Amino acid sequence: MRIVRTVADLRAAVAAERGAGRTIGFVPTMGALHDGHLALVDAARANSDCVVASIFVNRKQFGPNEDFDAYPRQECEDAAKLEARGAALLFAPPHEEMYPDGFATTVSVGGLDEVLCGASRPGHFDGVATVVTKLLNQAAPDIACFGEKDWQQLTIIRRLVRDLDLPVRIVGVPIEREDDGLARSSRNAYLSEAERTVASRLPNILHMAADRIGSGGDPEAVLPNARRELEEAGFTVDYLELRNENDLSPVRAAGRGARLFAAAWLGRPRLIDNLPVPAR
Ligand code: PAJ
Repeated sequence: MRIVRTVADLRAAVAAERGAGRTIGFVPTMGALHDGHLALVDAARANSDCVVASIFVNRKQFGPNEDFDAYPRQECEDAAKLEARGAALLFAPPHEEMYPDGFATTVSVGGLDEVLCGASRPGHFDGVATVVTKLLNQAAPDIACFGEKDWQQLTIIRRLVRDLDLPVRIVGVPIEREDDGLARSSRNAYLSEAERTVASRLPNILHMAADRIGSGGDPEAVLPNARRELEEAGFTVDYLELRNENDLSPVRAAGRGARLFAAAWLGRPRLIDNLPVPAR
């Protein structure tokens, strides 16, 4: 696997693959790779001939009090994992390559970025939308893979690709979980042993709430109960909401497109999760 650090080298390498008749699948990440990221590499391989991954810890999507400096950086280990999984190219640019002096443009996907995580992380999705637009222009892939774990991010990326006519197909990849159900995340590394035991209550309680709503329970009764259970387990709940999975508008009952979204702090890290709520 080749590692490139400039946009010019990335473009030249991608052009060579295209010249050889291969399609390009792209997997953008911030590194500290785990099986969730690697599932995206598998999906890219299944949907294209040549997998290009990127690792860039994007300062613009971190709030002033968030963990930009502490974010785990382990490029050598990550590169080995990507290579073992069949990626052909890794783009790992320095900050100045992405944001040279005088950089002034922001991509903002209005509305979708105001709810759920957008409400408690102002500016976060502008940072994501801006860097993803740049990465898609730089790598010019046929398809790009994003995880359903960050469902709101995936929704925002689908919208910006549509709105800006970017010639790429976005592939959503199901959430990869630990054995006890906890969604894999680079930030799980911040959990203490005791917190890690408690963490699996988040998907469990979400599942139970989704089951109750799916079998006719009123979300206005079920969700406050689930929130209380989470708080009693030790979480500080940011949100627990039933919304439409396509446009993130509020939804009042189970059914097609209904999805339960949660974010909660457990000690230092803020965990997120989501799952569909079909009517049964
Ligand atoms: P990062 O948190 O590194 O995640 C990279 C990709 O992996 C995202 O599409 C994310 O949804 C996916 N992912 C993470 N954990 C997953 C899991 N347990 N199951 C399935 N997919 C999972 O998301 C970002 O980076 C950044 O915002 C980025 C899109 C790279 C822009 O900077």
